[in-house]
Amino acid sequence: MSAKQRGKLPIVVLISGGGTNLQSIINSATQDLPVFIRAVISNVEEAFGLQRAAKAGISTIVLQHHAYPDRNAYDEALCQEIDRHEPGLVVLAGFMRILTPAFVARYAGRMINIHPSILPALPGLHTHQRAIDAGLHEHGASVHFVSEEVDGGPIIIQARVPVLATDNADSLAARVLKQEHQIFPQAIRWFAEGRLEISNGQVLLDGQPALNT
Ligand code: GAR
Repeated sequence: MSAKQRGKLPIVVLISGGGTNLQSIINSATQDLPVFIRAVISNVEEAFGLQRAAKAGISTIVLQHHAYPDRNAYDEALCQEIDRHEPGLVVLAGFMRILTPAFVARYAGRMINIHPSILPALPGLHTHQRAIDAGLHEHGASVHFVSEEVDGGPIIIQARVPVLATDNADSLAARVLKQEHQIFPQAIRWFAEGRLEISNGQVLLDGQPALNT
């Protein structure tokens, strides 16, 4: 372990796309976020986030799901790749795959995801357009521990933004993404500092409910 890594939480980040959340983690880690990104893994070869990682000197791995016969085989290969890096935390940063129960169970309590909605509202895809179509006045993003339920699991932190009458999905997504880039490093910081625990399906921060709802 290099001096640069000492005392920092090793993490592995999984992506499928542009990687702006990955970038926010990279940027925070170059400042004072106490994590060391051991590897970035993508299921999509062209994911721009891979270039972001490479530019930051982080190892990148492409594991294309097409190359595997089924979801179980893919997730097993993914586990093997992740475990090689011995992360203390697995970070899903726009990793657009449904995960098998075995995969979720393996990283229970040490895998987090970011999702662009105020969960439990709007799990799944196209959340920005759906928020507009539903006439919601408020939208946002959530960081949560991963459970078997898609975009489910105990919530660590949420951010809210207004939905404006002039919004389209892109303008709303941009407003939400800005918030994602704040709350994801924050959640990772709390985890790295050992300040989070899950109790009765609820996340506690320093022993108190993390969400002030
Ligand atoms: C983010 O908006 C993230 O919340 C979303 O994918 C985008 C990835 O953007 N994740 C999900 O929808 C998970 N269900 P990025 O590649 O620029 O970080």
